[in-house]
Amino acid sequence: MDINSARRTNMIGGSEVGAITVEMDHRRIHETNSLFWDNNGNEVLGATALPFYGAFVSEDNHRLFGDVSGRKVLEIGCGSGQSLQYLGERQASELWGIDLSANQIEKTKQHLTASGLSATLICSPMEEECGIPDNYFDFVYSIYAIGWTTDLERTFRRIASYLKQDGVFIFSWSHPIHKCVAPENDKLVFKKCYFDESWYSVTLGESTLTLSDRKLSTYVNALAKAGFVIEYLIEESDEDIIHSRNGDFARKAKMLPVTFVIKARKP
Ligand SMILES: C[S@@+](CC[C@H](N)C(=O)[O-])C[C@H]1O[C@@H](n2cnc3c(N)ncnc32)[C@H](O)[C@@H]1O
Repeated sequence: MDINSARRTNMIGGSEVGAITVEMDHRRIHETNSLFWDNNGNEVLGATALPFYGAFVSEDNHRLFGDVSGRKVLEIGCGSGQSLQYLGERQASELWGIDLSANQIEKTKQHLTASGLSATLICSPMEEECGIPDNYFDFVYSIYAIGWTTDLERTFRRIASYLKQDGVFIFSWSHPIHKCVAPENDKLVFKKCYFDESWYSVTLGESTLTLSDRKLSTYVNALAKAGFVIEYLIEESDEDIIHSRNGDFARKAKMLPVTFVIKARKP
């Protein structure tokens, strides 16, 4: 492919960025992304830890988890451990986390220790077998990490295997419509085709990220294929959060969902 035809526009967080189309290569994508997360923390994207599911959606308003006391929880892509801390402080009985980045795992460990909590932490891609027990967890959840997977169907099958019968899977990710549209002179303008799920690389500062923007139906159909029953889908932005913010991102969030959250159950 000629290099100019591979150049494109994508949205990362609230910003429009220049990107380049790349081939899908699991190993190379894991190497690129683990290096990125080794060098950067959650602050690059912002609002990716509970109680927030994203910039404008909060667990405080939606209560998808309910009472977690005495429950075993596993976070996929545990980042720096803030969401595990949130559930640990609400008396979850066991905290487990998995992350691709060794530095993020270390940050989680230090963050939880400083909060008087402990967790079983595993450094591995979410797509791979990594010693997590089957039929064990009451909740598996992921806040802005599932979309990094290079194999969505395989990842959802694994997550289903970790859950007990009736166990709950909750995850949030960027809403795919938000990834197509950018603010421009008080208008929202389509910059990318909604159906385009091809992989792309973006350089932020010194580091590069590689990802793909999947359609909402791709997530829903992969959940169904893994045997999940969807109980709730959030596409709204929370009014109180929008009212507390100014700027282009908040104006955009009034017009379309920037985050989606799904609560599904293993029957
Ligand atoms: C936005 S952060 C998640 C923050 C987290 N919710 C918290 O509370 O701190 C996304 C995380 O996903 C991890 N990640 C990216 N690709 C992954 C993969 N294939 N398998 C497992 N973790 C991955 C990154 O290393 C990063 O720590």
